[in-house]
Amino acid sequence: MPRRLSLIQLGKGTVGSALIDQVAEQRPALRERLGVDLVYAGIAGRSHGVLEPRGVDLKRWRAAVKAGDGLGGRQLLRRAMGSISGAAVLVDATAEEGMAGLYLEAVAGGFHVVSCNKKPLAGPLADYRRVQEACRRKRRFWLHEVTVGAGLPVITTLRDLLDGGDRLESIEGCFSGTLNFLCAALDGGQKLSKAVARARELGYTEPDPRDDLAGGDVARKALILAREAGLDLEPEDVKVEPFCPVDGDGDAGAFMKGLERLDAPMAKRCREAAARDRRYRYVARVGRGCSAGPAEVPAGSALGRLGGPENVFVFRTARYRDFPLVVSGPGAGPQVTAAGAFADVIRVARSIAHTA
Ligand SMILES: NC(=O)c1ccc[n+]([C@@H]2O[C@H](COP(=O)([O-])OP(=O)(O)OC[C@H]3O[C@@H](n4cnc5c(N)ncnc54)[C@H](OP(=O)(O)O)[C@@H]3O)[C@@H](O)[C@H]2O)c1
Repeated sequence: MPRRLSLIQLGKGTVGSALIDQVAEQRPALRERLGVDLVYAGIAGRSHGVLEPRGVDLKRWRAAVKAGDGLGGRQLLRRAMGSISGAAVLVDATAEEGMAGLYLEAVAGGFHVVSCNKKPLAGPLADYRRVQEACRRKRRFWLHEVTVGAGLPVITTLRDLLDGGDRLESIEGCFSGTLNFLCAALDGGQKLSKAVARARELGYTEPDPRDDLAGGDVARKALILAREAGLDLEPEDVKVEPFCPVDGDGDAGAFMKGLERLDAPMAKRCREAAARDRRYRYVARVGRGCSAGPAEVPAGSALGRLGGPENVFVFRTARYRDFPLVVSGPGAGPQVTAAGAFADVIRVARSIAHTA
């Protein structure tokens, strides 16, 4: 008889729906291989949700959510806590602020938590530590691999290094697929305004590209890594410089129109860097502190060689000093992100299988 792991998922957008579909496909194999049955007991969006403790029929989960009885995420979780027994995971596939309180409720109710959402990890330090402490006391996982580098094993690598007694000196890299796409386009002689418009068309940017260009998303990822490495930093402790001057006035459309004025100065910066055999990149660094900003890097380095919407993370530690440990690959996209969150769910499933 397989052990059961119930899933309650908030968020059924791009990443959330890809995750449900991946779990549906892989469920029989995991039942066989791990002896754990992954059962979606609840799925909710902003205003609609379905709670079915015996398991939502994953062949028709979209219709089931639509026909659900107006349960938002919070209500769904509270009802689920009263009706599910055994091991359970709350999956946060939203981009909502203020989820730390909900996580605390979930952990108090015995749930593990898997987050795709960066905000609860990159908000006030006290909230972050409270959730960590609650998980430690209740012996529950709080896994969030995809909050940095999507499906790439970045946080797992950092945890394994530290748990194994290695000493982190720095993590340096390009943490934004969107900004790397722009850098690669500028390397190829494209105009900044055209490259941003193309990145927007391809769905790489946030709805308002200023959110990417201002560096806030990279700063959040750097802060998450810094906290994971044990640094007690607040969001305002991260030193952030924008990728290029970002005018906060007006809507995204007006900003896009005005972007042409930056074409010539950005092209000049990239040309000058190339003349020195260097490349213009948006580099984040976690060491004693935490920073994110534009920098020139050697053309032949791991950062300089990036040629598209990839991420790269260069770990320097006491054991990996002369030859750093490098993790790189696609750092965004629904399938790889969902796969990373799925891997977190499987980590919980394995722990159940092993304690059975
Ligand atoms: N896309 C990527 O490559 C990537 C990579 C790494 C991490 N992430 C993170 O993954 C998360 C999800 O991204 P996404 O691209 O899937 O976003 P999305 O398509 O905008 O989906 C967000 C989902 O959250 C739901 N939601 C919002 N508030 C909610 C609430 N209070 N309770 C329950 N559901 C709520 C929305 O409900 P409705 O359907 O009702 O609107 C929607 O289904 C984000 O935090 C993002 O930063 C994404």
